[in-house]
Amino acid sequence: MFFHCCLATDLESSRLCNGQPAHLILLLLLVLQAMLPLCSGERTCPHSCRCEGKIVHCESAGFLDVPENISVGCQGLSLRYNDLHTLLPYQFAHLNQLLWLYMDHNQISSLGSRVFQGVRRLKELILSSNKISQLHNATFHGVPNLRSLDLSYNKLQVLQPGQFHGLKKLQNLHLRSNGLTNVPIRAFLECRSLEFLDLGYNRLRALTRTTFLGLQRLMELHLEHNQFSRINFFLFPRLANLRALYLQWNRIRAVNQGLPWTWHTLQKLDLSGNEIQTLDPAVFHCLPNLQTLNLESNKLSNVSQEAVSAWISLNSISLAGNVWDCGTGICPLVAWLRNFRGTKDTTMICSSPKHPLPPVPPPTTLPPEPEHMSFHKVVVGSVALFFTVSLVLTVIYVLWRRYPNAARLLQQRSVVGRKRRKKSSEPEQNLSSQLQEYYMSYNPAATPEGLEVLGNGTGSCTCTISGSRECRGGIHKIPSPYYVKNSSNKQREMTVHYYIKVIT
Ligand SMILES: *[C@@H]1O[C@H](CO)[C@@H](O)[C@H](O)[C@H]1NC(C)=O
Ligand SMILES: *[C@@H]1O[C@H](CO)[C@@H](O)[C@H](O)[C@H]1NC(C)=O
Ligand SMILES: *[C@@H]1O[C@H](CO)[C@@H](O)[C@H](O)[C@H]1NC(C)=O
Repeated sequence: MFFHCCLATDLESSRLCNGQPAHLILLLLLVLQAMLPLCSGERTCPHSCRCEGKIVHCESAGFLDVPENISVGCQGLSLRYNDLHTLLPYQFAHLNQLLWLYMDHNQISSLGSRVFQGVRRLKELILSSNKISQLHNATFHGVPNLRSLDLSYNKLQVLQPGQFHGLKKLQNLHLRSNGLTNVPIRAFLECRSLEFLDLGYNRLRALTRTTFLGLQRLMELHLEHNQFSRINFFLFPRLANLRALYLQWNRIRAVNQGLPWTWHTLQKLDLSGNEIQTLDPAVFHCLPNLQTLNLESNKLSNVSQEAVSAWISLNSISLAGNVWDCGTGICPLVAWLRNFRGTKDTTMICSSPKHPLPPVPPPTTLPPEPEHMSFHKVVVGSVALFFTVSLVLTVIYVLWRRYPNAARLLQQRSVVGRKRRKKSSEPEQNLSSQLQEYYMSYNPAATPEGLEVLGNGTGSCTCTISGSRECRGGIHKIPSPYYVKNSSNKQREMTVHYYIKVIT
């Protein structure tokens, strides 16, 4: 087969050999033989694979082993979605031009020390979604030019000391969703180009001050969904270029700042889904350029004045899902939010105080103004209608008495007129019934109470319940939050009315 291919490519030489001395033919054969490996390299494609130039796709083909006959000039090889179990030492050594190698979604369980020997040019290696539980400390020593290494969704519980040594050009390292319980000290010491590190969805409980030594270019660090119970920011001073730190869904109760230093680069901090009760102002004092802060789903009940004053660069904040105490302790936060112009998700639920309000007045004193107004309108309308109908009937009666024919005509017209009137009064009735429903479903005496907390400029705050009752001295009487919400969403976005609902 190869031979054919070579003869076909070298038509001129074959023509030349007709009628030439035997030694010439011999020479020609020798030349052809010399060309064979090159030829086979460029012209064959492994069975069940698809080859495009120097790229070989062998995806979803049920391979149990790396197929043979992959062209030696191959620069990209995809073996995704197969059944590869083991990779042999020097498995890819003949493919020394490889730049990328994808082997995700296979059954690989361990990688020996010499699997990647001989592919020094390799820049991208994807091994995610396998069953890798063991790596040798030298597994990646043969691929010092790696830019991206993906080991996520495997079964790694430990990393060897020196696991990533020599990977000086590595920019992205994915270790998400393994079973890692710790990271060896100085694990990334030589990864001086690393910009993205994902250690999320593991079982890490602790980090040391030397864990991240050497990561001077790191911009994004994922530590979410681990088991940290406290985080001390003095762990991170070596990460002098970090922009985003993800710590959501751990069990963090406390975030401290053990050592005063200023982390100028950090812009995004996600602490959602933890168990934080209090915010240490010192942490935020050291993050002067923090722009996005997520504190959702923690156990915060208040935020101190000192902490909110340290949020000087924030343009996005999320506070939903905490256990706010809507006593005076909430005032600094509310006042800060009132002046805040950025993006916010502040659906705040007060879990205490349980009964911060004066006794609930009897519901009869509660009918809200809009209902009153519409009731008046209905009464006036009905009276007017009654008089009009009476008048028309009187006129008809009189006309019927005098001109029976003309009266019949008029009678028909008045029926049409009444229909029209009926139509025009419909929207009004709808509105009034909507309002009634509306206030019924939010009757403060029967349902959890709607509260609105307003901070005024001087820092003290007032809250008002459901548009009519006030608590804590009640300086302002403000419209019902529901009313504000329903009547003009636009206005709600512009003004800072913080809606707080009490759960009992
Ligand atoms: C692959 O190489 C083997 C020898 O190693 C050969 O027998 C086989 O025909 C080749 N298959 C293809 C598709 O070239
Ligand atoms: C790698 O592991 C071997 C034992 O498997 C050990 O002898 C060697 O010192 C280790 N090398 C590094 C750099 O940790
Ligand atoms: C704020 O919350 C903490 C923790 O729940 C509590 O100890 C502290 O007394 C609260 N401060 C105020 C002013 O309510």
